[in-house]
Amino acid sequence: MQMTLIVTLVLHVRSGVFWAGTTFALARTGGNEADRFFRPQMGAASVAVATGGVLWFFLHRGPLGTPGHLLAIGALCALLAAGVQGAMGASARRNLSALSESEGLRRRVARSQRIAAGLLAITVTCMAAARYA
Ligand code: HEM
Repeated sequence: MQMTLIVTLVLHVRSGVFWAGTTFALARTGGNEADRFFRPQMGAASVAVATGGVLWFFLHRGPLGTPGHLLAIGALCALLAAGVQGAMGASARRNLSALSESEGLRRRVARSQRIAAGLLAITVTCMAAARYA
């Protein structure tokens, strides 16, 4: 059980760090090469959400206290971030040829990365604070 928890938490933190880290970098660079990161980001997001669900099941079942509320806010922001990135990224990939030419499309991709970065900053804060709340 202890081993399962450790492996799950390590996978959760690693995938979360990759997802949030690349999102912050893309938000800062105006979404430069965002299309190359789309699949790895969505993969990391899926692992972070799935392992987060497993951790919740093992550690936070039952009535929500303050830590549970913080985790719930963080999880909600993570799901919103995945939705914003997924929807915008998928539509940009459908128009890959336009992406290099269309300034409007590039700006929309950059904006979606900035929105996701803000949401993931809330997620990381809530996840880190929950343990000692
Ligand atoms: C739906 C999405 C998510 C859910 C349901 C979720 C849930 C959880 C749960 C239940 C824990 C264990 C808390 C404890 O040890 O008591 C946790 C820890 C953690 N999560 Fe998430 N999480 C999600 C997304 C994320 C994302 C996207 C990140 C990073 C960007 C992240 C970063 C962390 C970190 C760093 C910890 C370790 C906190 C600690 O051990 O002190 N999580 N998460």
